[in-house]
Amino acid sequence: MLNWLDSAVFYQIYPISFFDSNGDGMGDLKGIELKADYIKSLGVNAVWLNPIFKSPFKDGGYDVSDYLAIDKRFGSMDDLVSLIKAFKARGIKVVLDLVIGHTSDKHEWFKKSAKAKRNEYSDYYVWTNSVFENYPGIVRGLYYRDGSYLPNYYASQPALNFGFENVDENCPWKMHYTDERLKPLRQEFINIMRYYLDLGVDGFRVDMAGSIVKEGWGFDGSNLCNDAEDGLQGVKWVWNEILGALRKEYKDKVFIAEWVMPQRSVKTCGFDLDFLTHDTPPFNSLYRYEKGTNLEDTDYFVRGDNYFSPNGKGSLEDFVSYAEYLYKALGDKGLFIAPTGTHDEVRMPTGKSPDMIKTIFAFLLTVKQVPFIYYGDEIGLEHDFTLSKDGGGVRTGARTPMQWTDGKNRGFSARKLTYLPTSYKKEQSVESQEQDANSILNTVRELIKIRKQYPALNASSNQTFIEKGYPAVFERSNGEQTVIVIVNPSNQTLKKKVSYSNVIKMQNAEISDGEITLNAQSFAILLK
Ligand code: GLC
Repeated sequence: MLNWLDSAVFYQIYPISFFDSNGDGMGDLKGIELKADYIKSLGVNAVWLNPIFKSPFKDGGYDVSDYLAIDKRFGSMDDLVSLIKAFKARGIKVVLDLVIGHTSDKHEWFKKSAKAKRNEYSDYYVWTNSVFENYPGIVRGLYYRDGSYLPNYYASQPALNFGFENVDENCPWKMHYTDERLKPLRQEFINIMRYYLDLGVDGFRVDMAGSIVKEGWGFDGSNLCNDAEDGLQGVKWVWNEILGALRKEYKDKVFIAEWVMPQRSVKTCGFDLDFLTHDTPPFNSLYRYEKGTNLEDTDYFVRGDNYFSPNGKGSLEDFVSYAEYLYKALGDKGLFIAPTGTHDEVRMPTGKSPDMIKTIFAFLLTVKQVPFIYYGDEIGLEHDFTLSKDGGGVRTGARTPMQWTDGKNRGFSARKLTYLPTSYKKEQSVESQEQDANSILNTVRELIKIRKQYPALNASSNQTFIEKGYPAVFERSNGEQTVIVIVNPSNQTLKKKVSYSNVIKMQNAEISDGEITLNAQSFAILLK
């Protein structure tokens, strides 16, 4: 694992909704730079920005039309350079989002690739040989070229061509991943990454990294502990070509996969980190939200048997056994990320009490992983289920503006109408939470401080789970120091014998005569 990841805490920013510096109703790079001191005050040491490149925004910027230009709504390349400088000065690394599996259909590469006459871009995308040929999901009849293209996500996102896992003589257009004709595209991405790494960027979060080679899809939802490399030869080979080339020159840069199978992305394909997501097991057993029959249905928000549901019917069993499998599989190659949230998920704080949100933060900031905090989660910002914009669908509700003040537009923008609406809950703002030492915001700051102060909580330190129910008890140790963490997300009051030498932090808990009383939604971090 890269050294700096051991003590890293990331902060994810959805740029259009962070801070609007020029009054056009949309967040921008200058706005993020203006908030560098706030980000520093959280104690995080890296930020990940969702896509900032030129895009028609049919999928929130995950449809890039020029990788080497900053979208006008966010500012300019000079603004990015200035932002990197400002963050560097504060000891904060900057990671960009690289969408490698597809472009926008407005990208010049695609426009040229769609031409009837063969040219140097013809093989950049996956096209059938004839417009009359069928293949699942293929988009037919939109262009002059005699062929149809394979979309990678939405129809406006044609799949880039990194080849297929196997050749098929009935479909000669399915090129093998080692085909020489595919080399120029890989080179394009190596050059794009080099360009930003040379500019001072510290790495990339790589979008849909597991699916770039077709018919060799590296995610296996039916068996997350699948260690086999069947069907992975192509994706392994391609990532080795790309990351292998970059790693030689750039030693300290981080490559984060969005893949959701760390044993494949990290262990097999050379990434440093990968995400678990709230939607996939076993992470979804912690605080997954499910859609009920109507918006008022509380089931929409919290599934009853989640570990972090107050009724205390869940268990950490599945999460812990998967995590333990991963620690072993990954060794010291890298780790997983159990984020507080992302731009793709229902916001974690939705429908939860501040004490519950703090309990979740206490867990995620002490359990063995590399923590990622999604902007706004630190003030308990909730999901807005009424919105859908930029191809976001229900995800849009997790992308509303950061709430800085209690005033107009929550201090996000001077413009009357903001691109996405701000929320209405007064207590969910930086301004109101700054006043309260016990607020979610100040608790998150304190927890990050604790993580830094106690190396036993570093990502590389060991972890032993002692109990996985209510309360959950685990120990973190780096050999010299051992920290005990106890969490009780339930509504019940629980008692437990403890041996400890010092209380590092407690919420809704007290200790007397070697026994800890854990009231509803409590946690304790103790030094052994
Ligand atoms: C990733 C992104 C998501 C996007 C999709 C297609 O999952 O996180 O927001 O819609 O890829 O690029």
